Amino acid sequence: MARLALIAIDGPSGVGKSTTAKALAARLGWDYLDTGGMYRCAALAALRSGLGPGDPGIRDLMDRLRIEQIGTSFLMDHEDVSAAIRTPEVTRLSSPLSADPRVREALVPQQRRIGERGGWVVDGRDIGTVVFPDACCKVFLTASIDARARRRFLELQAKGQPAEFPAVLADLAERDHRDSTRDVAPLRPAEDAMILDSSDLDLGQVVTAILARHQRHGG
Ligand code: DC
Repeated sequence: MARLALIAIDGPSGVGKSTTAKALAARLGWDYLDTGGMYRCAALAALRSGLGPGDPGIRDLMDRLRIEQIGTSFLMDHEDVSAAIRTPEVTRLSSPLSADPRVREALVPQQRRIGERGGWVVDGRDIGTVVFPDACCKVFLTASIDARARRRFLELQAKGQPAEFPAVLADLAERDHRDSTRDVAPLRPAEDAMILDSSDLDLGQVVTAILARHQRHGG
């Protein structure tokens, strides 16, 4: 299989995939695609239409949905929804909604069209396994649930958002479980992915490890 010049970063929620992917894209002069942001747009659209996972109207909704990522901003039908897709309500719905096969059938082809010519760092849950199995560099970024919950808790505190550590931990555990046990495109490392545990690493160390892998594997 010809290798595509693309770095795929998969891993559980709260592991720092997007921060890592953005830093890598900046270092390489590549673009960054946030596939989780696309699932969040789908969740926001579903919320606004009063639809949930499994509802018959989801297919129609997905056919009509126009999502665009410009830099790190998301536009949905030309409306800037970058802040609206990060609310707790959208975060909660995006996990069960992304397990609906009709949502994935609509978004995966869009992701492939965006990245097919290479020069992208793409993060998500199924990038190395399903979306770009031909990516030249695949990373499964992981960290203990305690480390991820601690980081998320500190982030929320820094933003002045009220949060309780046990609730943050429970929420992550629930999303981990749902994302890795769903029938379609469950979260798991590709066979040829480097598994990188970032529990005790800072961003610079993670980026250095991935760049070293990328240099070894070409692209
Ligand atoms: O990475 P994130 O938290 O922004 O992702 C939001 C949700 O979308 C998350 O619950 C899992 C889902 N997702 C997915 O199923 N596949 C992807 N490639 C990216 C995200």
